Amino acid sequence: MIFTVAIDGPAAAGKGTIGRAVAARFGFSHLDTGLLYRAVGAKGGDPVAAAEGLEPSDLARDDLRSLEAGQAASRVAVIPQVRAALVEFQRRFARAEGGAVLDGRDIGTVICPEAEVKLYVTASAEVRAHRRWLEVGGDEAVVLAEVRERDARDMGRADAPLRAAADAFVMDTSVLSVDKAVARAIELVEQKLGERA
Ligand code: DC
Repeated sequence: MIFTVAIDGPAAAGKGTIGRAVAARFGFSHLDTGLLYRAVGAKGGDPVAAAEGLEPSDLARDDLRSLEAGQAASRVAVIPQVRAALVEFQRRFARAEGGAVLDGRDIGTVICPEAEVKLYVTASAEVRAHRRWLEVGGDEAVVLAEVRERDARDMGRADAPLRAAADAFVMDTSVLSVDKAVARAIELVEQKLGERA
């Protein structure tokens, strides 16, 4: 069975938690596509060469979750040749047998517009910065500034900017708890699978 759940949205909106829960519930594979861009940014040197030569071991680095790695990822992600080098891998993953959940910024709009279920998960910048700050610590005002800077870059770039697909189901986790968002996402997938049966 080929079935794709595309989850897009800004940093720390809850995409990863929802994606992992949906994948576990249905036995689908899960790909955090942000990790690909983080690995390219962390490699240093020429980002296009880094993207073209990306290997599984690059994704296993333990420094990819930091704020710096997030900023570096967002900077290399504006380069069209970097994005192009990562498209095929993501498309193959999305349409592989057995079902897949991908979370990122352009999954429902560019990587897999044919996804069976599309979610756009968002929350206010303040709520997202607070969540990130609980994980990374430091000065919360700095974390908020980083979140805003990354939003502006990810939404403002010319190639595959972050935006909700026209047919995406929008969830705002500032008002909806992440648990409720997970339950809603599972319902949407169940409904689509039911329509197919
Ligand atoms: O989801 P994340 O915070 O790990 O993503 C890090 C950066 O990578 C994000 O700021 C923009 C970029 N990114 C992207 O351009 N497209 C994706 N599908 C996923 C991430």
